[in-house]
Amino acid sequence: MDTKNVVIVGATGAVGKAMIKCLDNLEFPVGNLRLVASERSKGKVVKTSFGEITLETISDEVFESSDIALFSAGGDISREWRDRVVAADCLMIDNSSAFRYEYDVPLVVPEINPDAAREHNGVIANPNCTTAIAAVVLWPLHEAFGLKKVIISTYQATSGAGAKGMQELLDQTRDVLEESEGNPLKVSKCHVEPRAFAHPIAFNIIPHIDKFQKNGYTKEEMKVTWETHKIFGDDSIAVSCTAVRIPTLRAHSESIVIETEKSVSVDEAREVLEDSDGVKVVDNPDDELYPMPLEASGKSGVRVGRIRQNIVFGENGLEFFISGDQLLKGAALNAVQIAKLFV
Ligand SMILES: NC(=O)c1ccc[n+]([C@@H]2O[C@H](COP(=O)([O-])OP(=O)(O)OC[C@H]3O[C@@H](n4cnc5c(N)ncnc54)[C@H](OP(=O)(O)O)[C@@H]3O)[C@@H](O)[C@H]2O)c1
Repeated sequence: MDTKNVVIVGATGAVGKAMIKCLDNLEFPVGNLRLVASERSKGKVVKTSFGEITLETISDEVFESSDIALFSAGGDISREWRDRVVAADCLMIDNSSAFRYEYDVPLVVPEINPDAAREHNGVIANPNCTTAIAAVVLWPLHEAFGLKKVIISTYQATSGAGAKGMQELLDQTRDVLEESEGNPLKVSKCHVEPRAFAHPIAFNIIPHIDKFQKNGYTKEEMKVTWETHKIFGDDSIAVSCTAVRIPTLRAHSESIVIETEKSVSVDEAREVLEDSDGVKVVDNPDDELYPMPLEASGKSGVRVGRIRQNIVFGENGLEFFISGDQLLKGAALNAVQIAKLFV
């Protein structure tokens, strides 16, 4: 098999680190791997399964010597470098939301629309993490039963805000425990300074991710609607989401209600999901088995369970709960799966 020279931009971040592991786990045929981060990381050495690699700053030369660039350093850097990456004939697979809604930039989940990846003009976008995790479960149900309406409530981990989000949860939890001296009655009176989130995240939940839009939804919530339509190639499905940050470290969970065109039973849905790539059914309430973020962390398949007939939509509706590692399927794993379409 031909090898590909790969560069990861944002290699020290939550997503970038997961990308290095995914290249190895998916046995990606890496020729040379280069790791790019900010000025403050320059010169540090990272131990990887591809050898010890020295972190470097971004430059044209990096892209001229690479076939594929996996970008996860934020939208501003992606926007700034796009034209130069494309000019260097290096395929850009971008994790930010910078290009997702451009008509000639494919938005790809390989289990769903791998053919769209071939129509790229130098850039392929990776979907928002909440969307990607839901999409791998919703797509087989859509194919089998036709989705009419989808209503999602999310439980999103702090790592969705990057390495700094996880650190904030750990620091605040420790500070609150110290200040309250472990007295539960004192916890809500503790003073912690939020930085990564709008409010304290320790011992709290925050129904606010990304900026509020004119329609009252947040951008994170609207991304789920916009991106599901683009990935499925079908904007007739009504999709609504409420996105909530919770004090976990890794793996997003979502409670999902669907209304379907055709009637659907729990057994039929379970059979479809058990046969679907990227999905793992974990659904045995009698043994207290259902998806949870701690169990889903570090795993590639999106867990689905609590599958039940929805009592509002009856035989044309289901309700279920999913947990998926958003640093993997919602970011790094999906990006490397896209890259693998080109080897
Ligand atoms: N976290 C998620 O669940 C998730 C999911 C899907 C998509 N994404 C997207 O992926 C991107 C990265 O997210 P993250 O969570 O990994 O963030 P992160 O943990 O904050 O990491 C940011 C990375 O960008 C690097 N960086 C910053 N400025 C740079 C510069 N001028 N040149 C080169 N590299 C620079 C940082 O390097 P230093 O360490 O040197 O500062 C670090 O490696 C964002 O666009 C985010 O929206 C994240």
